[in-house]
Amino acid sequence: MNIHKFNLGFFPTPLQKLERLSKKFPEYTIYIKRDDHTGLASGGNKTRKLEYLIQEAIDLKCDTIITAGAQQSNHCRQTAAACAIANLQCHLLLGGEKPSVYDGNLLLSSTLGATIHFTGANRKGEDIDNLKTVLKKEGKKCYVIPYGGSNLTGAHGFVEAVKELKDQLREQQKTVDYIFFASSSGGMQAGLTLGLDVHNLKAKLLPISIDKDETNGHSLEEVILKIVEKGTEFFKIDKTYSLTDIELVKGYDKAGYGVVTSNEQIAIKELATKEGILLDPVYTGRAFYGMLDFLENKKLPKGATVLFWHTGGLPAIFKYAKDLL
Ligand SMILES: Cc1ncc(COP(=O)(O)O)c(C=O)c1O
Repeated sequence: MNIHKFNLGFFPTPLQKLERLSKKFPEYTIYIKRDDHTGLASGGNKTRKLEYLIQEAIDLKCDTIITAGAQQSNHCRQTAAACAIANLQCHLLLGGEKPSVYDGNLLLSSTLGATIHFTGANRKGEDIDNLKTVLKKEGKKCYVIPYGGSNLTGAHGFVEAVKELKDQLREQQKTVDYIFFASSSGGMQAGLTLGLDVHNLKAKLLPISIDKDETNGHSLEEVILKIVEKGTEFFKIDKTYSLTDIELVKGYDKAGYGVVTSNEQIAIKELATKEGILLDPVYTGRAFYGMLDFLENKKLPKGATVLFWHTGGLPAIFKYAKDLL
């Protein structure tokens, strides 16, 4: 496996203190890592994965990328942008039926030049193999990026992100005890898990589960464990992981994927009005609410330093306008 990458983003992303929120919760110090500023067609965490995935596609001399997600997929939007930069054709398999008007991420994916296929109830890549067969017959050399870009190649981006964070903490003379973030297809969580081991950073991950549905018959923990197991071999980490080591904070995902509740509304308003930072309604709004709940209910030890890893997703806010007003 290649470990070099195709540059797509602006790194390091900023690490800031949330001054007003830290005052509201005086027992804690709260930081934010701004992967909403990775810079690729409005940013987001998938840029880190795509740097490695796109490089692998180029190395394999592929000319076409296929990936999948929901209509408001940030992963698909960033993949479309990465393909534009790398001069690759991009085919996106998006759940649901073709809407009369494109908005949010769907509008951006289309503007970025992707060919879009609507796949009804299948939003997690169930139709990838069929499309690959069709495109192969047309003479295309396809590289498949799995749902969410979540495999070991993509996870390299987050192993590297831990090093980036560790360097920033050292430079800014800060420490971090807990890291909250939105976990959905699992690649970021797998990469961070491996990265903490590879770079010896002592912090506890508190990944907030966003989507309670399984992926192709596998739980999120199983998907993450599989990537982590491959990673321990690749990075020669002397540790055996099991399902119980894969931490996932559940319960905030009860309403279902992409359903905006008062939780997400509260979280989005709180960060916007206190710090001038925008969250999205599907991922970061849900994860930030989870963190607020931990802080408000003092579920972490007094004096802890807490990091919220902002993973982007802003374009979806425009699709969900009526749920947020
Ligand atoms: C904004 C945002 N945050 C978090 C995630 C979750 O990352 P992962 O799929 O690697 O778990 C996603 C995935 O689509 C996302 O778009």
